Amino acid sequence: MPLAEYEGRPVLLAPSVLASDFARLGEQAAAAEAAGADWIHIDVMDGMFVPNISVGLPVVAALRRVVKLPLDCHLMIVQPERYVADFVKAGANHVTVHVEATTHLHRTIQQIKELGVTAGVALNPATPLGTLEEILPYVDLVLLMSVNPGFGGQQYIPTTNDKLTRLRRMLDARSLGHIQIQVDGGVYQTNLAEVVGAGANNIVAGSAIFNNKQTVAEAIAGMRAVLASHK
Ligand code: DX5
Ligand code: ZN
Repeated sequence: MPLAEYEGRPVLLAPSVLASDFARLGEQAAAAEAAGADWIHIDVMDGMFVPNISVGLPVVAALRRVVKLPLDCHLMIVQPERYVADFVKAGANHVTVHVEATTHLHRTIQQIKELGVTAGVALNPATPLGTLEEILPYVDLVLLMSVNPGFGGQQYIPTTNDKLTRLRRMLDARSLGHIQIQVDGGVYQTNLAEVVGAGANNIVAGSAIFNNKQTVAEAIAGMRAVLASHK
């Protein structure tokens, strides 16, 4: 069941556990599932592609044991082709790689699809949409980074809205409307409507869901209420 509909189109919510309390990771992911999250987004960072190190294969395997939701692995690692099979084996249902991180992107995407899971490509804020031109027919999802990858809790880069709109048009022009547009970074209740209005239909949210101000259930209900007001 999608989070909500915005002007008639379904919008999925993928809470990023990067912002969760890692000492209670299983409990927090289960709370997100119980509250109606659609996917669980797992940020994998290698300290090379991005200046931070987060979690890897054992954490994906552990989450696989506690939630039934699709596990969405966002690989912020160099040469992700080295590890995609391992992530699928650990329980990933969806794997996204960065166009900036793999030389043979088409081969990497084929590799992911052959493993029987869905495939996404991610673009950093400064990477043009033109880099998607040849790969679009092969992917299930495009992730637009709305912050520079590596850390949670950053501010949404406002020019992402225009990039989302141009991507939406690009997909429509090519009859590729089935491809999901995921946005990642700095999305809160305050800017959710504009981000979805610009074209995103798969929302990653870390700090907006896992924080000290609200329970996970309250945070997800808040996101849902924002979308419901735009039916
Ligand atoms: C950043 C990650 C994001 C991050 C988003 O590199 O890809 O998924 O968790 O966190 P917030 O929602 O706090 O910006
Ligand atoms: Zn992410």
